[in-house]
Amino acid sequence: MFGLKSDLSKNKAWKKLAKHYKDMRDVEMRGLFRKDPQRAERYCITLDSIMVDYSKNRITNKTMDYLFELAQEKKVPEKIEQMFRGDKINQTENRAVLHVALRNRENSPIYVDGKNIMADVNAVLAKMRKFSDDVRLGKFVGYTGKKLVNIVNIGIGGSDLGPKMATEALRKYWAKDINCYFISNIDGTACNEVLNKINPEETLFIVCSKTFTTIETLTNAHTCRKWLIDALGEHAVSKHFVAVSTNAKEVAKFGIDTENMFEFWDFVGGRYSMWSAIGLSIAIAVGMDNFEKMLDGAHEMDMHFKYTEMSKNIPVILALLGVWYSDFFNFRSTAVVPYDQYLQYVPAYLQQLVMESNGKFVSNDGEYVKYMTSPVVFGGAGTDVQHSFFQMMHQGTSVIPCDIIVPAISHNEIGEHHEILVANALAQGEALMKGKTVKEAYDEMRRAGKPKEEAKRLKKYKSFEGNRPSNTILFKKIDAHALGMLIAMYEHKTFVEGIIWNIDSFDQMGVELGKQMALSILPELQSNASGISHDSSTKNLITMVKRMRK
Ligand code: F6P
Repeated sequence: MFGLKSDLSKNKAWKKLAKHYKDMRDVEMRGLFRKDPQRAERYCITLDSIMVDYSKNRITNKTMDYLFELAQEKKVPEKIEQMFRGDKINQTENRAVLHVALRNRENSPIYVDGKNIMADVNAVLAKMRKFSDDVRLGKFVGYTGKKLVNIVNIGIGGSDLGPKMATEALRKYWAKDINCYFISNIDGTACNEVLNKINPEETLFIVCSKTFTTIETLTNAHTCRKWLIDALGEHAVSKHFVAVSTNAKEVAKFGIDTENMFEFWDFVGGRYSMWSAIGLSIAIAVGMDNFEKMLDGAHEMDMHFKYTEMSKNIPVILALLGVWYSDFFNFRSTAVVPYDQYLQYVPAYLQQLVMESNGKFVSNDGEYVKYMTSPVVFGGAGTDVQHSFFQMMHQGTSVIPCDIIVPAISHNEIGEHHEILVANALAQGEALMKGKTVKEAYDEMRRAGKPKEEAKRLKKYKSFEGNRPSNTILFKKIDAHALGMLIAMYEHKTFVEGIIWNIDSFDQMGVELGKQMALSILPELQSNASGISHDSSTKNLITMVKRMRK
């Protein structure tokens, strides 16, 4: 599409897969299950409290063999090794990629530029423990001596989505008197709606920004600072504001004492940062012991990823299935459906993780790629989404592979709720896979007493093509450990896809152009200044906005 180089199709295993795809594209999973009673066990991996069933995919042993061959050819094991070793695999920014160091629970040395970074990592964890304990116990209090019970995370992207997703996932573990709020959008509504609910005397703002230059976060932080000063005066700021950043200079410039700053580092990407002090709101809400359990879970997945052979390696397998669908079947989107209300923000979190990491068109060799990279990721909590986009999942003209995430035990066992929820989760996977033939639809209607003509007229509408892939990710119960495992699993899956596609999964240059243009449009909206020359549509829109605002 974009050029003729960086062509994976010259790769031996890729060629085999391309040929094999022709044999597989019409193969029905129904038939595969019928022929192989062991299929569910064959394509299923259990690790601690997580079970990943990937049997409802359009694969055979041959498919998996070729995919593993592809991973070997693309040197996946070596690249995994490089990441854990601290090599600068973020090549466009010349940075190591070491979110795994943040949860390196064995504390084995990891070196960046010759320095063991574990001492710094542990020091910040200790600082987080002290601070979160002090807030929770009412030892670190607000300016007027009141306990800080409103925790407001101000950040955007990776400085928002991780903490927001994880605090929600672990809501059941929150300290009883603490409430968490998240302000990310530059839309004043986001700020206003939170500030209207809280008392400044009892509020702690955590300003999270890796760069501390992000316009949304800084604008929101300034607004909140003013709100606090208006209520309690300038001296109150140090008792109500802390920062999490890699940029001490900008933090000081903003007016937050760097004593009240929690550090993290360039080797942690924004969307991989919830394990760092960016997760401070999580630690305050659920306690540092739980935060560390989340790190333990992620570390367990890290060790599985690092040491397990590819044929039993969960993130590797999920990534290879992703490539199989994106690049051979040309399926352009994927859905994530957690059947757990507490996991409602997981799809939004994964949108950034996957699409900001792998939505790229230039390879690590500086060539335009000729194959599909990141799919579109979307999703939402089941069963809600069964009543919105599932129509298309079942009968649409696009096939959308999906991940169904479901806990066996609920935190809120009320009557039959959870059994109904789980029944739906499992039913969706089965229905997507099996479908319903036109004949089956017709017979069913006839059995239900529909007249012949009516059944004939409706049989196609009521049929389901089936053969639609899904992975089922089954947990015992959502707790900090399981959440850590789940998120680390997706991080590594994303990394492996990036390896196969030969792209840098750790930069995000595609977000810059829009930011740049907004900066040039802003003065034009505020005055008669004219910035860069715009196309006629944008020019017209600027004029119309100004007219409407008059
Ligand atoms: O959208 C681009 C981005 O840089 C994300 O990668 C990042 O998570 C977000 O902005 C916020 O950046 P920062 O933490 O530096 O404010």
